[in-house]
Amino acid sequence: MNWRDGFTIPTSNLYPFQWNWDSGFIALGHYYANPAHAMRELDSLFSGQWENGLVPHIIFHSEHEETYFPNFDFWHSNVNPGAPARPKSSGITQPAVHGFILENLLDKSPDDQDLLAFAKSLFPKIVNYHRFLYDYRDPHKEGLMFIFHPWESGRDNSPLWDESLERIQIKPGDLPAYQRLDTNIADPAERPTAEQYDRYVYLLLMGQRHRYDGPGIAEESPFLVQDDMMNAILIKSNESLIRLGKRLKLDTAELEEWQAQSMKSFKEKFWNDDLQMYTSYDLRGEKQIAMKEIGGIIPLYAGIPSQEKAAALNNHLQELHASGYYLCPSFDVQSPAFDSCRYWRGPVWPHMNWMIYHGLKQYGFQDTAQIVKADTFEIVDKYGFFEYYEPEKGLAQSLKKAYGGANFSWTASSVIDLIHNP
Ligand code: SER
Repeated sequence: MNWRDGFTIPTSNLYPFQWNWDSGFIALGHYYANPAHAMRELDSLFSGQWENGLVPHIIFHSEHEETYFPNFDFWHSNVNPGAPARPKSSGITQPAVHGFILENLLDKSPDDQDLLAFAKSLFPKIVNYHRFLYDYRDPHKEGLMFIFHPWESGRDNSPLWDESLERIQIKPGDLPAYQRLDTNIADPAERPTAEQYDRYVYLLLMGQRHRYDGPGIAEESPFLVQDDMMNAILIKSNESLIRLGKRLKLDTAELEEWQAQSMKSFKEKFWNDDLQMYTSYDLRGEKQIAMKEIGGIIPLYAGIPSQEKAAALNNHLQELHASGYYLCPSFDVQSPAFDSCRYWRGPVWPHMNWMIYHGLKQYGFQDTAQIVKADTFEIVDKYGFFEYYEPEKGLAQSLKKAYGGANFSWTASSVIDLIHNP
């Protein structure tokens, strides 16, 4: 239903274009029905790659959809001469999942010659994307990338970003008039607030002033964060590309250098002993963002924690399970900022569960992995393929539907792939 002759939209109306990390997970689902579509999906995404290596977070293959803001005419990606004229795109990125997705596809069919040829052609493009992240997003050369917009994290309105966004004080006349469209389609109670949207627009326009890749972004941006989840995903994809490169006899020296430094800095900088969890780092405020949040669990999937730290993350999930929550709520259920229906401030997201399931299995926490999988199946079975789900079991009982968009592509993909994983 969501296939658009070459790429897949996340859901109709609310997100009518191609989204970066959605595409990665979506490719997994396509593989089972039509492997050629899985390859087309990723190819289409990388057709929007910029000369500097950036893979934008939205690719506007169609210029006729008018249900989304900010559309391509608001992004003006042509302020950067290295942005392709077509397809048009946004000027920011999203979690770099494509390295591990590519390896996962090849693992499903290691001898498929079409897939092998495809992997060889995509490999240098993904490496070029990672090079962009290390060259343009790591001013102190720590091996850790920053983001300058919450949309890049994929977790748009997580309470993690509240303090950074508070630094942006908008006065009347600071922003051009704009019209949100998401709240016409999804329930406003399940979406970011108006104040948050103003700040998203402010940061978009700030990025645009710097052609979306200028050094002025790191100097000026009030929102400048090293997100633990994005860095963990980058590490996971580096690792996959290193293995793939060896298998395909391609050069992996640069990847290995990045990987060693990223892994070292990640472990030194992001673990929080009090929380017993990884945290993101506020580069502008020069401090950890000390909150329990789902991004702090994803390092499991990247093989970052020691067995002891992994056990602490596993305990955290077991406690949530024992206190009546579906795994895995996207934010700390004990926090006053927790909001069980509002996008990334609490709800469960199936593609996150997919990563956590695999992470738990890698560390031998089979029981918890099976809970994550069973919870995912239960909520999808009850409500359908929604964007996100109520985590409080008691409250979920009384609901007729889940949250955000319906018929959601990566939800379906994650479920299909989990079905094939014992
Ligand atoms: N997730 C953002 C939105 O809701 C954009 O990536 O529009």
